[in-house]
Amino acid sequence: MFSSRFTWSLHTNWLSRLLESKRAAGVEILDLTESNPTQSNFEYDEKEILAALAAPEALRYEPSPRGLLAARQAIAGYYTSLGRRVTPDALHLTASTSEGYAYLFKLLANPGDEVLAPQPSYPLFDFLTALESVQLIHYPLRYHAAQGWRIDIEMLAASISTKTRALVIVNPNNPTGSFINHDELAALNSLCQEHDLALIFDEVFSDYGCGHEAQRVATAVGNTAALTFVLSGLSKTLGLPQMKLAWIHVSGPAALREEAQERLDFINDTYLSVGAPIQHAAAKLLALRQAMQQQIQARIAENEVFLHAQAGTLPFVEILKREGGWCAILAIAKPLAEEKFTVNLLEQDNVLIHPGYFFDFEKEGFLVVSLLTDPAIFQEGVARMLARLAAP
Ligand SMILES: Cc1ncc(COP(=O)(O)O)c(C=O)c1O
Repeated sequence: MFSSRFTWSLHTNWLSRLLESKRAAGVEILDLTESNPTQSNFEYDEKEILAALAAPEALRYEPSPRGLLAARQAIAGYYTSLGRRVTPDALHLTASTSEGYAYLFKLLANPGDEVLAPQPSYPLFDFLTALESVQLIHYPLRYHAAQGWRIDIEMLAASISTKTRALVIVNPNNPTGSFINHDELAALNSLCQEHDLALIFDEVFSDYGCGHEAQRVATAVGNTAALTFVLSGLSKTLGLPQMKLAWIHVSGPAALREEAQERLDFINDTYLSVGAPIQHAAAKLLALRQAMQQQIQARIAENEVFLHAQAGTLPFVEILKREGGWCAILAIAKPLAEEKFTVNLLEQDNVLIHPGYFFDFEKEGFLVVSLLTDPAIFQEGVARMLARLAAP
């Protein structure tokens, strides 16, 4: 009856069932995996947001494959403010970054073709690829004490086959928070030229960098050495995932880019999934981004300082170098069964964290917490987590 795309179990796992039963029993859970900004106690400019969504123009239906010009102009303006020259013509609107991935896989890959994505990274790739009948192949990121997480370019190159169609780069990556550097981009461009591949950059967290590394590729927008798609959206840029507005920016060698855009128009035109109210609101909403991003950055900084101060007292806990994003990774230098620890922490201390395997770390010994968490919850949750880690 059903398609063979569904290769995964529809049953919830042990941790989710435990969480559900605790919540059903009214237990207060300290959730250190919270990544939903609308549930993290931020102050949104409600009046401005709601007013922006009430534009009378939204009463007209004006189907446009690439998306309404006013919205694309607003997004181009956002890139201009970051020092990038972007024309509205290079932008295609989607309802979410996830939908952007689906469109790009339809554009680039036949069923059974392969795309390469980082490991560790965002767990949704398993589903995004499987639902498009595309094969997900991982390439490793390796942690170096001085440089942080870097792409293992040799392993990536060795993973390219005749079926490979695209390389996915999450910049900065979730959860490692690592940006790619210019040397890595040059190597990726060469591989794309040699093997006829496209680059897909997921830059949803790119506004949340920390530190100023000269070698960092802040955005791949405008990369012309290979066909390059950059995905981003309001979900993280404005902390408004429920608004469902994202975009794909296309750059690359002219002929290839033009053909890709025409084909992408065809895909967009088939679904036309972005609503009129959010497209008409885009300019006004994007104008609110500084205030929102400042709140989020301040929250991340406060939680990170607390985490370092607390974890610094435990010699077997290392907080890994972070260049951006919303997560912190704890590397535990003593035997640690991640699943057992995570379940115990929830069962006995009512604290929820992500075990490293959730993000497909190559080996055991990593715990991941969200720096977006409300500080009161974060501090109590971290204290309980570290106490359990310190217990014999
Ligand atoms: C790396 C990464 N890309 C994309 C998304 C999803 O973005 P969207 O809400 O636009 O689908 C997330 C969500 O957490 C993410 O972590």
